[in-house]
Amino acid sequence: MDRHGFLRHMHRVYKPRTYLEIGVNDGRSLALSRAPSVAVDPAFRVVTDISCDVHLVKATSDNFFARKDPLIHLRNGRNPFRALARRDPANLLGGEPKLELSFIDGMHLFEYALRDFMNVERHSRWSSVIILDDMLPRDVDEAARDRHTTFWAGDVYKVAQVLRRHRPDLLVVDVDTAPTGVVAVFGANSESTVLKNAYDKIIEEYVVPDPQDVPQEVLGRKNAVRPEALLGAGFWPGLVRARNLRRSRSAFVPLRRQIEAITG
Ligand SMILES: C[S@@+](CC[C@H](N)C(=O)[O-])C[C@H]1O[C@@H](n2cnc3c(N)ncnc32)[C@H](O)[C@@H]1O
Repeated sequence: MDRHGFLRHMHRVYKPRTYLEIGVNDGRSLALSRAPSVAVDPAFRVVTDISCDVHLVKATSDNFFARKDPLIHLRNGRNPFRALARRDPANLLGGEPKLELSFIDGMHLFEYALRDFMNVERHSRWSSVIILDDMLPRDVDEAARDRHTTFWAGDVYKVAQVLRRHRPDLLVVDVDTAPTGVVAVFGANSESTVLKNAYDKIIEEYVVPDPQDVPQEVLGRKNAVRPEALLGAGFWPGLVRARNLRRSRSAFVPLRRQIEAITG
C-alpha cells in the first residue's frame, strides 16, 4: 500500500472532522479529504478535483503557524465544530478548533518536520492522529539532506528518533508504506513544552552534513507494521468514540495498549 492508499483508508477508519495537510503539491493527498481542511504549501499546483471545504494557504508552514489564528477556517467555515458549539459552547475548548488528522509532508529536512510536528501538536488533542511522510528512507542516498535522487525522503526520519527519546508519552508507530514509509503518532499533548525547551540542543545534535548515518532498523523497516494491520485493528472505533465524546487523556492508556499490541 502506498501513502495515498494509507491516507485514504485512514480517512475511512478514523473519520476525522478536521484535517490539516502540510505539503500539498498537486493535491493528490488533499483530494482524499472529505472533512473541513486547511492545506499549506508555498508552491502548490493543484491539478486534481478537491472534494472538501478547504482553506488552501500559499505559505511555508512556519509562516502559516506564525499567524495569529491559523486555523480560523475551521472555526468560521462550514464545519461540525460550529454546529457543536451552538449546542454546547464548552465543547469547543474555549473556541479553539482542534486538528483531528494531520499529514506532515512539507519540507523534507529534519528541523522543518520537527517544527511542523511541534506546531501541529499544539493544535491537537490526545485522540488526534498525526501522520508524517517519508519517515523510512530505503537507503542513505534517499535520506540525504541535499537531494540527488528521484524519491527523496531527506533526514525527516530523525523526528521519530527524537520523539521516542524525548517524548515517551507519545506512541510513535512506523508504517511500512511504499515508497518511503510513514509514521503515525498517537497521544498528542498540546501543552507539552519538552520539545520547545530542548529544541536548540536537538538541532545541534541531529542536523549533520551528508551522508546521514541512517540506523539499520530504519533502512530495514525492522519495527514497521503493515499498513493493513494498523488500519484493520480493533482500536479505531474506541479511539473515534473517545475523540467524539471528548474523553479525558486517561482514556489513552487502554487504547495505547491496544495499539502497542499490534506494533509489538
Ligand atoms: C512531497 S510534496 C507533497 C505531496 C502531497 N502531500 C501528496 O502526497 O500528494 C512536498 C510539498 O511540500 C512543499 N513545501 C516545501 N517546503 C515547504 C514548507 N516550508 N512548508 C510547507 N510546504 C512546503 C513543496 O512545495 C511540495 O509541494
